[in-house]
Amino acid sequence: MNAKRRPILAGNWKMNMTVTQARELASKLIPLVSSVKDRDIVLGPPFTALSAVAETIKGTNISLSAQNLHWEDKGAFTGEISADMLLDSGCKYVIIGHSERRQYFGETDETVNKKVKQALKKGLLPILCVGETLADREAGKLNETINRQVNGGLKDISTEDMKKIVIAYEPVWAIGTGKTATPDQANEVHALIRQKVKALYSADIAEGLRIQYGGSVTPENVSTLMAMPDIDGALVGGASLKPESFAALVNFK
Ligand code: PGA
Repeated sequence: MNAKRRPILAGNWKMNMTVTQARELASKLIPLVSSVKDRDIVLGPPFTALSAVAETIKGTNISLSAQNLHWEDKGAFTGEISADMLLDSGCKYVIIGHSERRQYFGETDETVNKKVKQALKKGLLPILCVGETLADREAGKLNETINRQVNGGLKDISTEDMKKIVIAYEPVWAIGTGKTATPDQANEVHALIRQKVKALYSADIAEGLRIQYGGSVTPENVSTLMAMPDIDGALVGGASLKPESFAALVNFK
């Protein structure tokens, strides 16, 4: 954490929660985090539950994120969701390029970049996910992978737009596995990303950039992660599906 950057804790619900369950989770969470003023709290339900969660959290200190979007404005793209639809459903953020999208749905740095541009064009704040696989790390390709994903995802993004982006570093081997990167391991990559952004933009932009860590974050390990100088938040899967555990995470000391 760094006093200059406001922490951002986001729950990525993935393909979980019906509308009824989503409403219940959000309602239970609201009183548990209502006194939080110094950090951003974001919920990422599946598309079908966005409107219901938007209604539930209206007037609270919680914001809404989608988990994906399409890069075109509208048209014949069966099964896809546009930025306007997300805005209309109450979204402020959108998660882009999650490793599960890259791994199972063929997303590339190129499509990720198109989505980041579309989100920015429409006024959604992108949470751009990057992260290496275990094979990358073991082959000594950590830096190469992160550089490629950061360069690719941010291609042709202006300095002004860069101020609106959050980057999430999620080592693929730590997602849903219970294997968290150690705070030092995570911070090392966060620092690398910040360095890269400094080279691409400026020291000011790099210092203002919020970088979340994601991968088996829990109420137990969040504080040691957040104590690291380059870790500015968490993108949380499993532990965001229960109001008590996500609230405990948000309320980390
Ligand atoms: P996890 O997922 O917290 O369940 O590891 C994190 C993510 O994929 O965003």
